Amino acid sequence: MKAALSLALISALSASATKSISDIKRVTNLATVPNKFIVEVSAPAALASKRELGTPHEQLYRSLKARKISFDVENEYDSPGLFVGAALTLADTQAVSKILETEGVVAIRPIRTYARPKPVLIKAGISPKDAGLPDAESTHVMTGVDKLHAKGITGKGVKIGIIDSGIDYSHPSLGGKFGSGNKIAGGFDFVGDGYTGGNAPTPDEDPMDCGGHGTHVAGIVGANPGNEFNISGVAPDATIFGYRIFGCEGSTNDDVIVDALLRGVKDGMNILTLSLGGSDGWTEGTGSVVSSRIAATGRIVTIAAGNEGASGSWYTASPGNGIDVISVASVDNVVIPLQTIQVTGVTHAPIVYYATFPLPVNGTLPLYATSKTSDVADDACNSNPLPADTPDLSGFVVLVRRGTCNFTEKLANVAAHGAKVVLIYDNGRGFAGISVGDYTAVLIQTEDGNFLAEQLASGAKISVSFPQTGGTVNFDDPKGGLVSDFSTFGPTNDMYFKPALAAPGGNIMSTYPLAKGKWALLSGTSMATPFVAGSSALLLQFKGKNAAVGRSARTLFQSTAATVSSSKTDNDPLQPASQQGAGLIQVYDALYATTTLSKGELLLNDTAHFAGKQKFTVTNNGKKAKSYSLKHVAAATALTLDKNSFPALYPVPVSANVAQVSFNADKFKLQPGQSHEVAVTVKAPTGDEAASLPVYSGYIYVSSANEIVHTSYLGVAAALKNTKVVDNTDIFFGVQLPTILDSTGNPQKGAVNYTFVGDNAPTLLWRQLFGTPALRFDLVDAATKFTPTLKTRAKDSHVISFTQKHNGGTFAKVPILGPLLELQYLSRNDEQQETAQYTVALTNTFANGTVIPNGTYKVLLRALKVTGNPTNEDDWESWLSPIFGIAA
Ligand SMILES: *[C@@H]1O[C@H](CO)[C@@H](O)[C@H](O)[C@H]1NC(C)=O
Ligand SMILES: *[C@@H]1O[C@H](CO)[C@@H](O)[C@H](O)[C@H]1NC(C)=O
Ligand SMILES: *[C@@H]1O[C@H](CO)[C@@H](O)[C@H](O)[C@H]1NC(C)=O
Ligand SMILES: *[C@@H]1O[C@H](CO)[C@@H](O)[C@H](O)[C@H]1NC(C)=O
Ligand SMILES: *[C@@H]1O[C@H](CO)[C@@H](O)[C@H](O)[C@H]1NC(C)=O
Ligand SMILES: *[C@@H]1O[C@H](CO)[C@@H](O)[C@H](O)[C@H]1NC(C)=O
Ligand SMILES: *[C@@H]1O[C@H](CO)[C@@H](O)[C@H](O)[C@H]1NC(C)=O
Repeated sequence: MKAALSLALISALSASATKSISDIKRVTNLATVPNKFIVEVSAPAALASKRELGTPHEQLYRSLKARKISFDVENEYDSPGLFVGAALTLADTQAVSKILETEGVVAIRPIRTYARPKPVLIKAGISPKDAGLPDAESTHVMTGVDKLHAKGITGKGVKIGIIDSGIDYSHPSLGGKFGSGNKIAGGFDFVGDGYTGGNAPTPDEDPMDCGGHGTHVAGIVGANPGNEFNISGVAPDATIFGYRIFGCEGSTNDDVIVDALLRGVKDGMNILTLSLGGSDGWTEGTGSVVSSRIAATGRIVTIAAGNEGASGSWYTASPGNGIDVISVASVDNVVIPLQTIQVTGVTHAPIVYYATFPLPVNGTLPLYATSKTSDVADDACNSNPLPADTPDLSGFVVLVRRGTCNFTEKLANVAAHGAKVVLIYDNGRGFAGISVGDYTAVLIQTEDGNFLAEQLASGAKISVSFPQTGGTVNFDDPKGGLVSDFSTFGPTNDMYFKPALAAPGGNIMSTYPLAKGKWALLSGTSMATPFVAGSSALLLQFKGKNAAVGRSARTLFQSTAATVSSSKTDNDPLQPASQQGAGLIQVYDALYATTTLSKGELLLNDTAHFAGKQKFTVTNNGKKAKSYSLKHVAAATALTLDKNSFPALYPVPVSANVAQVSFNADKFKLQPGQSHEVAVTVKAPTGDEAASLPVYSGYIYVSSANEIVHTSYLGVAAALKNTKVVDNTDIFFGVQLPTILDSTGNPQKGAVNYTFVGDNAPTLLWRQLFGTPALRFDLVDAATKFTPTLKTRAKDSHVISFTQKHNGGTFAKVPILGPLLELQYLSRNDEQQETAQYTVALTNTFANGTVIPNGTYKVLLRALKVTGNPTNEDDWESWLSPIFGIAA
């Protein structure tokens, strides 16, 4: 029998695995560190009468010892007004409730882990010979930063703390040196090279980057102009501090992030920027809470919204979900770098193909087309086999038309004749990246393919080559200026407006560690976030480095942003605000706006907590009287759940049912310095099924003769409390969930006694369709009379009978033998990711470590619905496990 602590948490199905239950791996997948918690205590001011008792930390430790709670201190925080407390490792997680009852303790939260940021695209070591790479100017032009630089507004005197993987300050465009007086003027390494998120940090003074991410971020904030790529940061004269919180490999944790945030405040940073986060949906983690408090004091905090657009809604990342933080979405750069082919034998400019890296093909090879004309729809498909006299194609580059069958089928057919390199030409479907498995094949555009096919048909001898350097061109991205596909969708489960706004983050060139090629092209909200940090430096330099300007920053950037369409087709609706926020930042407009709004976001909440009557103030800060008119433009309504209550994946379906908005007055006139209060009445849309959880949003434009600003609104046309939180279907694994896996990893069939020796132990498996504010597992008697809300497989439901009516419905009346696990603010699962499900391996102990006696039991799972009242039993979903025996 193992003296294991409470529950070990294991699991994970990798996204690429089949959805087979037996593939579930036994590795932890809850994004929290088992047994580590951050305790927050009252600041000394609140305990003035007790100062003689020592520091708040000493008082806390004394109280915990008096209560016989054993703990180790991992970290202490002492920033009165922001955060005072400690990160503790507890021997017994049941101590959590005792700690919460301890005098002076304000909160205790689990320590969340954050994976290393994964840029969507990484192209390192780009060469200056790759002429035509998108210089940073294209993003500056998209946002008006170029105009501010021309006026000499470059962030001088503003301090920006970058919390990331460190910075390679030896990069010449980042100043070449570290320390006071340099661009990278300070910072700290909180973790050391060897930190993985799962071991002890070894801090030092030197925040040198061994990853690359932080160096790229630093260049977006403040690279010096005048380099070989003509790149410059948004705020090249700002002073940067590097706070390193990632080792060379692995993840990081909330306890380290909080340390870095508070250090940044102590070092006098005006702006803190974090290009990191974990998909979440809640505003409540320690990192989120502390970031938000720092922002509320007038420092500007910019944090990435996340790169999980593929996973659908309600998924924005923490700590960016912190309420007062600026959570940043990504818009694609207007240009993307693509590769070209050189053509000989006919006169034609280099032909663009859709690839970031050159195809690794040497020399000049003759071109061979599989069809004589360019209009063969099923070119090289099974339905149109290559003729028997087709030559050996291994010495050729083979030209094949797109269409009828898939790429793999075409490529297999030409490969059967020896083909090694294939150009597929588009048939009008659209020029984009294609997936071709292990084949060497790329897409070219329709016109280019037609030209080559026709020239070959008319007898031309054409050869092509793939330049390995110097072949990169600036291609006008057909999706440039639109919200990046990968940018994560909000809102939060508590209906906050996340992300706040967007900045260029798709296809961004910036500095990279010298050891890793000096320059790189990356995509991600990690790249959009420092853009807003740099923009904030321009704002503070221009309007003054004070708390009032800091507090106004988000509203100012939101109200002057450019709202983004869902496509480049005229009259298509605006992209939902739950993905673009208030729109693409327009930094020049934000600084020079003469009309200001008191609110950049109107939070309408759900139908049960509907805040349909809203007010905001319009102020004319200009020198002339202005006549204003109001106009409402709705964005597309996002239908966020599918028919099974699973999150709807990208592209999130949209509906044209939108809110109706009316005002107290559509037009008004303001003298200089005057304000007007706009009263807004919003009627939520009704045309969509509440079960699809329609997230509606839109914009109220306030226009004068020479200026348009806007406020954004967002709500959900359903009551969140009706949303299912636990998956009770068999859709995902073909097995009804939740379930208990036996020691072979298969769903338990019939009664089983577990010995808890080696793998002989049960594992709970469940999926969260939606986040839950509270989830608990309790051990109950096998004969428990309780009717759960969720079905168990018929053959497992042994002893269930209807329970006596609980008067007052108090949840506490369900008789339990003891708690096994309690979780707060749990994120939903994501079928696109490793966290497709949660699993918990049971041990034969309660959460407090006490051994459970031999006998037969069930596990009772209870999950609180969003906005549910924890004391109301009806607001919880519940599930009773099959009977299992303990014989340990
Ligand atoms: C760099 O920028 C300068 C000034 O904007 C311009 O004249 C020059 O052509 C640019 N060089 C490259 C390589 O883009
Ligand atoms: C291309 O040529 C180089 C140098 O001869 C060689 O190292 C490389 O393996 C070749 N690549 C391919 C794909 O044949
Ligand atoms: C492509 O089509 C073939 C049938 O020819 C099919 O077996 C294969 O699964 C398809 N591949 C993809 C990626 O759709
Ligand atoms: C929406 O209402 C719920 C329930 O009252 C509340 O907890 C939440 O904070 C509200 N959200 C906002 C953004 O006001
Ligand atoms: C541990 O928890 C169990 C179940 O709640 C309880 O019966 C037992 O008394 C607890 N043990 C200690 C030492 O608190
Ligand atoms: C499990 O153990 C109990 C005694 O605790 C025994 O009555 C029961 O028959 C055992 N069940 C199985 C399936 O071995
Ligand atoms: C529990 O059951 C196991 C297996 O039957 C047995 O070895 C063990 O002694 C039992 N423990 C107690 C305390 O009875």
